[in-house]
Amino acid sequence: MFHFIVPPPLTLYIHIPWCVRKCPYCDFNSHEVKEAIPEQAYVDALIADLEQDLPLVWGRTVEAIFIGGGTPSLFSPASIDRLLGAVRARVPLRPDAEITLEANPGTVDQERFRGFREAGVNRLSLGIQSFQPALLTAIGRIHDDRQAHAAVRAAQDAGFDNLNLDLMFGLPGQDIEAALADLRAAIALQPAHLSWYELTLEPNTWFYRHPPARADEEILWDMQQTGAVKLREAGYERYEVSAYARPGRQCRHNLNYWRFGDYLGIGAGAHAKLTDAARQTVTRYAKTRHPRSYLETAHRCERIDSMTPLTAKDAVLEFAMNALRLDAGFTADGFRAATGLPISAAARPLGESIGRGLLEREGDVIRCTALGRRHLDELLQYWMAEEPDDARNSRG
Ligand SMILES: C[S@@+](CC[C@H](N)C(=O)[O-])C[C@H]1O[C@@H](n2cnc3c(N)ncnc32)[C@H](O)[C@@H]1O
Ligand code: SF4
Repeated sequence: MFHFIVPPPLTLYIHIPWCVRKCPYCDFNSHEVKEAIPEQAYVDALIADLEQDLPLVWGRTVEAIFIGGGTPSLFSPASIDRLLGAVRARVPLRPDAEITLEANPGTVDQERFRGFREAGVNRLSLGIQSFQPALLTAIGRIHDDRQAHAAVRAAQDAGFDNLNLDLMFGLPGQDIEAALADLRAAIALQPAHLSWYELTLEPNTWFYRHPPARADEEILWDMQQTGAVKLREAGYERYEVSAYARPGRQCRHNLNYWRFGDYLGIGAGAHAKLTDAARQTVTRYAKTRHPRSYLETAHRCERIDSMTPLTAKDAVLEFAMNALRLDAGFTADGFRAATGLPISAAARPLGESIGRGLLEREGDVIRCTALGRRHLDELLQYWMAEEPDDARNSRG
């Protein structure tokens, strides 16, 4: 069914599942620290987990590492150093691999940043969310605007030039002017990358049960359009629905993920998607979600909570769900390299989406039109109905 000559590029995701306090909007696998974090035991568990995953990626080079959470900056530089040392000793890592670590401004100082840098982290992602004190309080953050500014300065002084700031818009009571003021404050700090997320109300969060007053859909759309223009004027080109970067500074792990590349995932609840070019399979894995169970099972195969082989139909849909988020779209060659399928496997949804003006084809490139970007969910409906037989029968 699949026909891979080589598997797609591989990156590594490492999950750290603890936070000082759970934010009311957050549905990530993150747990409020109740007692001391079992930091050493968790690093041991991550290493054991990786070791057992090695046969899945024998001989393959890891292009980038992303340490996400939760709040990885709660871990000491010494633990991150031990972890990255263990990774380097076990998998071939590209010499100039981008190694990102997520940090919460309420949990850092310059010495800690210097330590992360010495451990090999070369990109930091700071969860700023907003620079307005009242909004930071309204969304339950543990830091204020002064700490947010101080964290950016400390990161820069520690030598991090590859810096991402996470901001959110559509926050409680926030109007367009307030959202743009946050962007201006972020731009003034000159980060290499900005992630600008629309606040979503996720099931199983406090905000979902107690929705705050927010701008309506039309205003949110205007906010996003106006913000994107301001960011472009300041030298940040949008490359994904919520991601903006200076030239050459796109996040390598995330970009690989959106291009439907392969990634290994270690840590509580971490997900992986791996291609086996010898067996012609693509498989998704999810690790045990709760930190306590993960710590107990990390040395055994029970650490894997689920293992799901993808069909051609799954691969076509999942490719679309990711690649259509990218402003650059994709090419037939990119589709084939990532899915192991000819572009004819997507002939019907492609035709329908183009016919309805949601996608456009320009030379080799297939990407969303402005209409398609606005109605991404509707666009994906056309891809959900795809039949796998096309893909099985053709090897074009
Ligand atoms: C894992 S967190 C980043 C690091 C750290 N935990 C922090 O919050 O400072 C990833 C980012 O996702 C975004 N995020 C989380 N929940 C969200 C939601 N419901 N809607 C929009 N963005 C969200 C936030 O911008 C957050 O910084
Ligand atoms: S600090 Fe980050 S990961 Fe933790 S609860 Fe808040 S948004 Fe979620």
